[in-house]
Amino acid sequence: MAQARKVVAGNWKMNKTHAESLALAKAVRAGWSAGWGVETVVCPPFTAIRAVAEALAGSGIGVGVQNAHWEASGAYTGEISPAMVQDAGGRYVILGHSERRQYFGETDATVNRRLKAVMAAGLQPIVCVGETLAERDGGRVEAVIERQVRGALEGLDAGGIGKLILAYEPVWAIGTGRNATPQQAQEVHAFIRGLLVKAAGPAIAASVPLQYGGSVKASNAAELFGQPDINGGLIGGAALDAQSFLDIVKAAG
Ligand code: PGA
Repeated sequence: MAQARKVVAGNWKMNKTHAESLALAKAVRAGWSAGWGVETVVCPPFTAIRAVAEALAGSGIGVGVQNAHWEASGAYTGEISPAMVQDAGGRYVILGHSERRQYFGETDATVNRRLKAVMAAGLQPIVCVGETLAERDGGRVEAVIERQVRGALEGLDAGGIGKLILAYEPVWAIGTGRNATPQQAQEVHAFIRGLLVKAAGPAIAASVPLQYGGSVKASNAAELFGQPDINGGLIGGAALDAQSFLDIVKAAG
């Protein structure tokens, strides 16, 4: 069965001015090689999307954003639409990141609405799921992940599921320096793969890239990416430095 392609995305979060974003994008471009065989994406803040997309044009490195709204336009202060993402040169959209869920009231239902709009616009979604430490300690990892995956994917048919990228990001591992062990991550990835098999059949499920995120560094990337159901990563802190991001991308190849 066809293995999922490898995808590594840098989530710059609320970091980098316009000039800093440009400098980072150029440094990533200078050190990157298509020969690694890893689909590579950077997700700067909205204010730098167009500049970064122009700096990376023709390079093979994709550009994404960290959220997008479900409506095409309208009275939604503080939001941007999938069409605006496209217009600015973005092709990927991170959805349901735990920081959106924790601090900004994002729910499985709003992730689902955003996801459908992003897919209708022909953009590539990266849908994030992950449990908190209390949920893990309470033995609820699978229940939480199943609820998030089912909620986010509600209403998608098998063909739609085949177009996704999913990211497993345990909340307790994000920005804490405490990554999940490769075994812990693989266990949850295999569980997610199983949910996709039930929803879309084995061939489609096998083709969906499942990223791990949470304190991925150059030093732990190869071991994480070496797990059978880990097809790359969603990288926060370590994506803010070109060399460490490039080392992680290379480790996925
Ligand atoms: P981190 O963030 O790599 O800084 O832990 C990952 C993420 O939130 O996507």
